[in-house]
Amino acid sequence: MKIGDTDIRGFASLAPLAGVADRAFREICASFGASAFTTEMVSAKGLIYGDRKSAELMALTQNERPAGIQLFCSAPEDIAKAIPLTEKFDPDFIDINMGCPAPKVTKNGCGSALLRDPERCGRIVAAAVKASRVPVTVKIRAGWDAEHPTAVETARICAENGAAAITVHGRTREQMYAPPVDLGIIRLVKEAISVPVIGNGDVTDGPSAKHRYEATGCDLVAVGRGALGRPWVFAQISAYMEGRSFAEPDIRTKMDIMLAHASKICEYKGERIGINETRKHAIWYTKGLRGKAELRRRMAEITALSQLETIAREIAEMNR
Ligand SMILES: Cc1cc2nc3c(=O)[nH]c(=O)nc-3n(C[C@H](O)[C@H](O)[C@H](O)COP(=O)(O)O)c2cc1C
Repeated sequence: MKIGDTDIRGFASLAPLAGVADRAFREICASFGASAFTTEMVSAKGLIYGDRKSAELMALTQNERPAGIQLFCSAPEDIAKAIPLTEKFDPDFIDINMGCPAPKVTKNGCGSALLRDPERCGRIVAAAVKASRVPVTVKIRAGWDAEHPTAVETARICAENGAAAITVHGRTREQMYAPPVDLGIIRLVKEAISVPVIGNGDVTDGPSAKHRYEATGCDLVAVGRGALGRPWVFAQISAYMEGRSFAEPDIRTKMDIMLAHASKICEYKGERIGINETRKHAIWYTKGLRGKAELRRRMAEITALSQLETIAREIAEMNR
C-alpha cells in the first residue's frame, strides 16, 4: 500500500504506543521488518505553547522509516498551527489521533471524543491537509460507544477531506481494551472509502494477521501490544504471510535483543532514565521465563546497563 506517494512495504506496521513505542523501540521493531512507524501522541496545543517534551517525542531517525508524527487536538485551528512545527523533524506523514480513550485526553474534546462529531473530524483533517507538506492519516476507533458506531461516517468524511489512509482499531471508546475487536466495522470502513485502511486491534502473530486481512480486506495491519517484549513478531508475521517457516529466537537471542533495546533507550535518554524505562520492557521480554520474579526484584534495584547484562546472562542460563 501507499501513504500518498510513499510505499509501505511488508505486512504489519507498529501501532503508536505512548510511553512504550519511543524511537528506541521503533528502531528495534524496524530491524525485524515492521512496515511503518508512528510517534507517541503529541499534543497540538502543547506543541504550539512550546512544551519541551514534544521535541523529544517527535525526534525521528533514519532507521525507522516511513514514520509519522501523531498529533492530538480538538480544533482545526490548533492542528493548522501545530503542523508547521513538526516539519523540522522530517516526518513522512502526519497522523491524527481520533481514538485515544484516556479521560485526560477526551475531556478536552481530543482523541476518541472526536468520534462523537464526524463533521468536526472532517474540518480537522481539511485544516491539517492544508497546513501539511506531507500526507495526513487518521487513526480512529469503531465509535464512542456501541450505540454510536461512527467509524464509517468518520472515515468517509476524513477521506473526503484528504486523509491519505485510515487506521481502524475495531473497538469503541466505551470498550477501552476489552474484547472483542469488531472486524465487521473494519470491513465496512474498507468498503466505504478508497484510501488504504489499516486494521488494528489484537493482531499478535502470523495467523491473526492473515485472518485480519481475509476478514476485513484491510490493506495493512498494525500491531501494538503484540510487539511488547517480542519485537520479532514483525518477522514472524512476514514469514507466515509469505509461507516461510520462522524460528522463534532462542532465549539467548531474546536476551540479546532486550539488551540491544535497553542500550538504545539509554543512548537516547541517558542511563538513569533509560534504566528506569527499561524495567517495564524487561518484564515483557521475560514473560513466562524461569527466574522472572527474581529478575523483577533485582531490576528494581539496578542503576546501570552493565547490571542488566549480568541479570540477562543469568536468565538465559536458567532457561536454556
Ligand atoms: C500503552 C498504550 C499506549 C498507546 N498509545 C497510543 C497513542 O499514543 N496513539 C494512538 O493512536 N494509540 C495508542 N494506543 C492504542 C494502540 O495504538 C492500539 O490501537 C491498541 O493498543 C490496539 O491494538 P493492539 O491490540 O495491537 O495493541 C496505545 C495503546 C497502549 C496499550
